Amino acid sequence: MAFTTEQRYRPYADWPAEYVEKIKKNTALSPWRTQFHIETPHGLLNDPNGFSYFNGKFTLFYQYFPFGAAHGLKSWVHTESTDLVHFKETGTVMYPDTPLDSHGAYSGSAMQFGDKLFLFYTGNVRDENWVRHPYQIGTLMDQQGNIEKLNNVLIDQPDDVTDHFRDPQIFDYQGQYYAIVGGQNLAKKGIIKLYKAVNNDYQNWQYIHDLDFANDNTAYMMECPNIVFVEGKPVLIYCPQGLDKHVLDYQNIYPNMYKIGDDLDVEKAVLINPTPLQQFDYGFECYATQPFNAPDGRALCISWLALPDMDYPTDKFDYQGCLSLVKELSLKNGKLCQNPVADMVKLRKSEETFAEKQTTNNVYELNLEFSPNQRHEILFMADNQGHGLNFVVDTEKGEIIVDRTNCGEKFAEKFGTVRRCDIEPKHATARIFMDQSVFEIFINDGEKVFSGRVFPNQDQTGIRILQGQPTGSLFNLT
Ligand code: FRU
Repeated sequence: MAFTTEQRYRPYADWPAEYVEKIKKNTALSPWRTQFHIETPHGLLNDPNGFSYFNGKFTLFYQYFPFGAAHGLKSWVHTESTDLVHFKETGTVMYPDTPLDSHGAYSGSAMQFGDKLFLFYTGNVRDENWVRHPYQIGTLMDQQGNIEKLNNVLIDQPDDVTDHFRDPQIFDYQGQYYAIVGGQNLAKKGIIKLYKAVNNDYQNWQYIHDLDFANDNTAYMMECPNIVFVEGKPVLIYCPQGLDKHVLDYQNIYPNMYKIGDDLDVEKAVLINPTPLQQFDYGFECYATQPFNAPDGRALCISWLALPDMDYPTDKFDYQGCLSLVKELSLKNGKLCQNPVADMVKLRKSEETFAEKQTTNNVYELNLEFSPNQRHEILFMADNQGHGLNFVVDTEKGEIIVDRTNCGEKFAEKFGTVRRCDIEPKHATARIFMDQSVFEIFINDGEKVFSGRVFPNQDQTGIRILQGQPTGSLFNLT
């Protein structure tokens, strides 16, 4: 169903319980429900929010519109985990229910202060003329999961930005808290503003400056900016909407990109000596990645595996969107690598030698090796007509291709159905997670990652080797 503005912003209490029951049943009929990726029982999931460690557990929230596959009035759903593999959802904890977030509790981050978790987020407000007022506001969550909204604006909309000003990320730099907020300046260019918590008080934010990160000034808005420290280096991960493709070519409607700095000058607001811009993920879906530095020393992150302003085949089942696996960030020769957290091996039920096979469903993990000087081609989710998700590892040319052109239900064709990247022409490896309608492919120990969705037909459950000799293991995960 196409949602009207009235429906998208209708108060939660005005939706009849029978309607919610109806769409929940419809969602359960979907053949594409994932088994180990976070998705919703109905409605739309978008950005991961408030990824943090609190009360002896990993805490993670996500943006949620419960009433169908549409971007409407957003709330925060809470989940928790001890191993970052199994997440327990405890329900919606933060509703858009105050004058400071009346039109959506938008994205944000979290940090523990004392025995409470401080949630720093954007209150999206529309006035009677439908003019948007973005407020950076806060909430405290206690150990029982009770929410106490602070009811005062922590950072107001500055004079030099438009109403696009959101997604505060709080981070710790050498014991001092800072925050960055994404925005659009009056020249309609994307910027990132840096603030400092005076005396480390999360209620007292002092503006420092627009962050200098050698911005090419082509994007019109920076959504979801985050700074995370990977092996001591600051990495800026953000979504530069409208980025000029001459700066860096990409095909997705909106990109998720990153730069690595040598250091961060927090007094002058400079990411020192940043690398050129790089794609965070080479696949079809990956957005609003949220990293954080965990107390155990790991740099962790999780992404939204869908994109804004898109329709998906699951929409007819009244739901949309899922989150990625939790990925651990590291550096290799100055390049950012992403790998699934070590505990992902817990999902392995049995191991077999990789070979062509018919699976009962598309839920498995692969650990593959590709010999040098050879083009290797595998068809996943294959049917008898030779259609499926095509995966090429060309160790001669030095190229990876993921092609979803002929896999199941067609969607987003306008943005291209093939993705590729270069690799070094030599022996290569791939670790692949398949989960019914999700793939996450980690090339060469996470040097390059391809994430995306596919919506296979019922008969598309085979694995065929079309060229080359990929070797390795298949792990059944169910
Ligand atoms: C990114 C985003 C954020 C915003 C949130 C609203 O996907 O647009 O900028 O806070 O989603 O749900």
